[in-house]
Amino acid sequence: MGVSFTAQTMALQRALETARPAGSRLFADPLAVSFLSGGLRIAAQLARVPMAGRLVSRAYDAVWPGPRPSAVVRTRLIDDTVTALVADGVRRVVLLGAGFDSRAWRLDALREATVVEIDLPATQSAKRIAVERAGADPDRVRFLPVDLETADLEKAIRATGFEPDVPTLVVWEGVTNYLTAEAVDRTLAAISALVGPDGLLLFTFVHAGALDGSTYFPEAEQWVRSVARVGEPWTFGLDPNRLAAFLTDRGYELVWEQSTATAGHDYFTPLGRSERASELYRVALATVSRPE
Ligand SMILES: C[S@@+](CC[C@H](N)C(=O)[O-])C[C@H]1O[C@@H](n2cnc3c(N)ncnc32)[C@H](O)[C@@H]1O
Repeated sequence: MGVSFTAQTMALQRALETARPAGSRLFADPLAVSFLSGGLRIAAQLARVPMAGRLVSRAYDAVWPGPRPSAVVRTRLIDDTVTALVADGVRRVVLLGAGFDSRAWRLDALREATVVEIDLPATQSAKRIAVERAGADPDRVRFLPVDLETADLEKAIRATGFEPDVPTLVVWEGVTNYLTAEAVDRTLAAISALVGPDGLLLFTFVHAGALDGSTYFPEAEQWVRSVARVGEPWTFGLDPNRLAAFLTDRGYELVWEQSTATAGHDYFTPLGRSERASELYRVALATVSRPE
């Protein structure tokens, strides 16, 4: 598999957000543009031209209604949650399916934390090169190429000398929807074995109803079609009403769950922004259960 296209579109959406005036953006991700090539890079550069930025975002939303507001809202919600959890004692962060996530370089909260990134090899190599070219230090993170569908995640991470008893947060953003149910189950089992009781998992998922059509979301059909067209179809979703039970069955306890629509309302409204993030895209925090 080549460099993940959906990871690049996430970087583009973060670059578009970064191009907004400082007072109206949810975050700044200066490295995001470095991960782009071809037309995506041109779009990100155009967005930096005063007055043109909003037009690029508007054009993007006209072609793909839904993904961009949800992408930037989930980024900010995860940034805020990571920051709060590090303040609460987390010392190590594992980014599963990290793609072009640049939190290791851009979040002050992570300055002292150990960061491990897992992804497929092609995307990781492209990231290393881009980070270096942008003048940042790729050795800030430990890159570990692992295919979550086929490899033994627990063994691969343990082989790096992963110390137990370090308070750990696993961030699994924008990935479960591209995996099989078996890979999701195996990954959850590996994480709980690695991080132990009280380990934390912050993850996203798509509403299962968007995949089987049982729940109506206005943006779903086009969104589902567009990811399939780039060769990264959505293959897995969860019912938010059954999420707590799903996690309990797998040795986790749900702490909170919310849609990007709800989070988006809280983030966009104070900035006077009218974008609406999607109800189908969801973010959740769970802890590994303590043994009875
Ligand atoms: C939509 S991107 C999200 C990237 C990043 N977490 C973010 O939010 O910007 C999905 C990521 O999952 C990775 N991925 C998909 N299938 C995978 C697998 N079987 N094993 C490891 N990583 C995988 C892709 O390479 C890609 O980087």
